[in-house]
Amino acid sequence: MKKASLLILFLVQVLLVHAQKLTVSALTTDYNNNPVGTGNVKPAFAWKLSSSERNTLQTAYELQVAATMPDISSGKNLSWNTGRVNSGQSVHVLYNGPELKSRQRYYWRVRVWDNHGNASPWSGIKYWETGLLNPSDWSAKWIEAAEITNGAVSPAPVFFRSFNVSAPVKSARLYITAHGLYEAKLNGKNISNHLLAPGWTSYHKRLQYQTYDVTSFLKSGGNVAAVTLGDGWYRGFLEWQRKRNWYGKEAGLLYQLEITFADGKKQVIVSDEGWKSSFDGPIKTSDIYMGETFDSRLDKPVTAAVAKNWKGVRVVHTSLDNLVAQQGPPVVRHEQFKALKVIKTPKGETVIDFGQNLVGWVQVKIKGRAGDTLKIKHAEVLDKEGNFYTGNLRTAQQEDSYILDGTDQFLEPHFTFHGFRFIKITGLHGEPDKDNFTAVAIYSDMQPTGTFTSSNSLVNQLQHNIQWGQKGNFVDIPTDCPQRDERLGWTGDAQVFFNTAAYNMNVASFFTKWLQDVKADQYANGRVPVVIPATQKRGNDGSAGWADVSTIIPWNFYTVYGDKQLLEHQYSSMKAWVEYVRSISKNNLWNSGGHYGDWLFYTMADDRDGKAAITDKYLIAQTFYAASTQNLINAASVLGKNDDVATYTALLKNIKDAFNREYVTPSGRLVSGSQTAYVLALNFDMLPENLRQQAAQRLVDNIKTYKNHITTGFLGTPYICHVLTRFGYTDVAYKLLLQETYPSWLYPVKMGATTIWERWDGIKTDGTFEAESMNSFNHYSYGAIGDWMYKVITGINAAEPGYKTIRIAPQLGGNFTTAAAGLETMYGKVASAWKTEGSKITLDITVPANTTAKIVLPGAASAAVTESSVAISKVKSVKDVIKSGNDLALTAGSGTYHFEYTLSGK
Ligand code: BGC
Repeated sequence: MKKASLLILFLVQVLLVHAQKLTVSALTTDYNNNPVGTGNVKPAFAWKLSSSERNTLQTAYELQVAATMPDISSGKNLSWNTGRVNSGQSVHVLYNGPELKSRQRYYWRVRVWDNHGNASPWSGIKYWETGLLNPSDWSAKWIEAAEITNGAVSPAPVFFRSFNVSAPVKSARLYITAHGLYEAKLNGKNISNHLLAPGWTSYHKRLQYQTYDVTSFLKSGGNVAAVTLGDGWYRGFLEWQRKRNWYGKEAGLLYQLEITFADGKKQVIVSDEGWKSSFDGPIKTSDIYMGETFDSRLDKPVTAAVAKNWKGVRVVHTSLDNLVAQQGPPVVRHEQFKALKVIKTPKGETVIDFGQNLVGWVQVKIKGRAGDTLKIKHAEVLDKEGNFYTGNLRTAQQEDSYILDGTDQFLEPHFTFHGFRFIKITGLHGEPDKDNFTAVAIYSDMQPTGTFTSSNSLVNQLQHNIQWGQKGNFVDIPTDCPQRDERLGWTGDAQVFFNTAAYNMNVASFFTKWLQDVKADQYANGRVPVVIPATQKRGNDGSAGWADVSTIIPWNFYTVYGDKQLLEHQYSSMKAWVEYVRSISKNNLWNSGGHYGDWLFYTMADDRDGKAAITDKYLIAQTFYAASTQNLINAASVLGKNDDVATYTALLKNIKDAFNREYVTPSGRLVSGSQTAYVLALNFDMLPENLRQQAAQRLVDNIKTYKNHITTGFLGTPYICHVLTRFGYTDVAYKLLLQETYPSWLYPVKMGATTIWERWDGIKTDGTFEAESMNSFNHYSYGAIGDWMYKVITGINAAEPGYKTIRIAPQLGGNFTTAAAGLETMYGKVASAWKTEGSKITLDITVPANTTAKIVLPGAASAAVTESSVAISKVKSVKDVIKSGNDLALTAGSGTYHFEYTLSGK
């Protein structure tokens, strides 16, 4: 071979190796992988870089969009091509091509360049597909069963229609929604694994429809469409007043099946007068709180022959303007739990224990006698004596009944869910075989993003409980609890838990959807309901710490995901809320309105000593007024609304001045001496600088008077350990975290909890219950400590919104010898793990590509630190190493690092 060609070959090889150092993957559109049926006309793209080199930053990208696979693969006939854009932006790159069309699939790919001179190959090809973007795209009509129920409890109506497919099908999409919940079948098969669709939104203003690719369900010749509707949130029981039909009295269906044939022709099957309906299906009743009654003898495939004598349908002329594409993740089945054991209770009940308090239902394999009824009732706990306990469910029955047909059966409910660890079985002949019962957890399909483990097994169980609190209460909307007659979108609970939730799982789409309902249900004067979707007006709408969800979650969301589009969308709602409080305040004091205050703070039955940790409700309100105003200022400055920044900065000063006049003595004592009062005043910077440290000392003193126990309720709990850390008392925060007696986070863990309890002492040490009527064992609010565990123990923080710059500053303590956390951010995985052996410490850190980390090595003296056996001063991707107090601070580019040193002073 000639020298020249050898050289070329060599160069090509060098280029290839060089090019593959950098790759791009994990492409998402509006946080989703290949979403179908989107409604956003300006979708946001994101991708992750991987590189074998440390310290990698994107310097440029090129993104291409085309309408077909061959076009995108060849880079021809592109509908949008950014060309090479010199930019480090790899998240929230907004689509800026020609106007998007309805029902169109768009393919896209991206490639990037980095600061080392590498170019990535093109990414794999991804797509997104729009749904029906305009109301006029719908030709379907709303239909209801011929027989009117007038809101009475009734069997689940089944709708039927047959149609012919007479040419080869290229693709088919079903656009569908319901008043109630739907289960849709084509030719006898469920068209998806989604549960409880269309989900819960503020139905009259926003009703989600879903889009399904149903191509594979069709066959040539006769086809059968059947849809069953459950009562769901639309017309079932909601709240504790035994009230139904909050949104409407009749179940309804909107159905549009669009078939595209190989020759390009189309056929559309829509819900209209041509359908049939029947109440003779197997689901005799279905209700979220109450459970389901299923008569398997009536469970027959729906065929034209079966539906021959069915009644017709009523077409209802309703506006379609409230339809919106599905935004949040669908609810689907997740973990399964085998039955642990069968228990005979003292009362003689037959009970099965699944070992985990979860939300979902039980699948049963059974062969019983035809006509027998198997009943399964669900409970979270057994009582002191070991009997099945449902007192805390209030009016919610949580009972599924199956009338058996005598064959081998597999049974599970359709339109309900239960919060339970235990089930009670009746109606069986003989003892149950535990292997025939499986508990299935159902929840919104969010990607797990965070892990936290440590050398302390009780804290690990706490983390487990927090995660299960999240799973069970993220069933389409963020709920307070999943078992009793509430399961509502209590706004206070959601804002309290948001940060922790966003560590554990990717909650971006979930909250994007719910925040739209916050905005939709906000009163015209800016007041925000305490429950979203808002079922009714309440006296306490606008309660401090609840209604402030309208500024707290959008701002925290921005911190975690860096999503400006979300902030822009919520901005008017944030501002309206602050303006509402301003309109009702007097002399800048928010001292009116009904408030929940520091809900469920520490109290005792016999309180002669005055230990109850009561905090003045208006003092609390004033701190949240400041917090919301601060969030609004933050959002305004990100969005470049300079006038608003000026206006609200002036307002914020007045709010804080008013707070100091009204609630603080000249020497810095607050009118309420509780932990929550000091925590909120410090967390939201209410006090002048010169009074802060002494206030922190008062907080610590207060904690000491309770012998290192926490006394905060919902509003103080998320911030207490953060405030302690900020003012130099991380040791006290560790003491609170590791406290094992009531009130504390670990007390329920010691009592065998597998989820977070609503009350610090839901079950007392003697096994009795704290309360009958309001005592949930799956309420995530107190799980808000998770945020501190990730942020302080393992030290993972977003220094810039969306983790473009990361601060990793673990703080050792509490006799932990190891702690490790991982977090999948928009840029990739951040990890921080530390281990102490005597005075020796090792720290393993991962910084994703296209980010930079500020790392603080606790108790390190620069000379002694090595990184993978190299003196830290010689490590190229580490810069700006400086001593900072007892620690060492440095800046590190992307990569994985292994630091080792001896703790200084030891
Ligand atoms: C809910 C709470 C909620 C509260 C309002 C309760 O019934 O379960 O978690 O925030 O009401 O104070």
